[in-house]
Amino acid sequence: SLKPRPLIAGNWKMNGLAESLDQARAVAAALDAKPAGARVAICPPATLLDRLSAALDGSSVLTGGQDCHVKTSGAHTGDIAAAMLIDAGASLVILGHSERREDHAETSALVAAKVETALTAGLEPIICVGESLAQREAGSALPVVTAQVRESLPAALAGQAFSVAYEPIWAIGTGRTATVADIEEMHAAIRAQLVELFGGHGATVPILYGGSVKPDNAAEILGAAEVGGALVGGASLKAADFLAIIAAA
Ligand code: G3P
Repeated sequence: SLKPRPLIAGNWKMNGLAESLDQARAVAAALDAKPAGARVAICPPATLLDRLSAALDGSSVLTGGQDCHVKTSGAHTGDIAAAMLIDAGASLVILGHSERREDHAETSALVAAKVETALTAGLEPIICVGESLAQREAGSALPVVTAQVRESLPAALAGQAFSVAYEPIWAIGTGRTATVADIEEMHAAIRAQLVELFGGHGATVPILYGGSVKPDNAAEILGAAEVGGALVGGASLKAADFLAIIAAA
């Protein structure tokens, strides 16, 4: 079938110093001994990306960035260009994470422009969407998220490798996960939007779930309809937890 392998991506966020490389090495060693059905990636803080890519060179574990600038280079203090992520060994990039949308006022229009920049550089984007608790309680989760999908995904994604990550903001780092019914309802709505945008290709794009994915809930979440992987925060920092989630995919 055309169905791609699930993707399990670890998002270390602003966590991780040199010693964290040992956790990644342990993940790679375990997967080399017993290959996973899923594709596996780790997205560390930018300071570790080059070293992480080197540590994982020759293993099955991919690396990615957590953001890139919309411009390709120039006077943008503190920012990172897509080509720099590639130079540091990355093959993927997370874009539009809710923490970027919130901390840095990123709009869906900016996210879409960043996606184009990332694609041009040769990065595979993981594009994040998700509603706030207030939006869910107001009953607007579905229209909010489908609008984010429409506005954050440029036409340039047609035929390209990418994934969408649904991360309900209230489930991030809270230990609270969406129910399987809520996940399936949202993933079905995202799938319909992807098919509307990209036709048959949109039917094959992996839709990841993110938000307090842990070893003890991974099998249930990853077994839900239209869940094509997971974007894992806290649990990706410990090799044993991350490996248990990978094994559930
Ligand atoms: O991008 C992953 C994420 O936001 C989920 O974080 O810690 O709830 O798994 P966490």
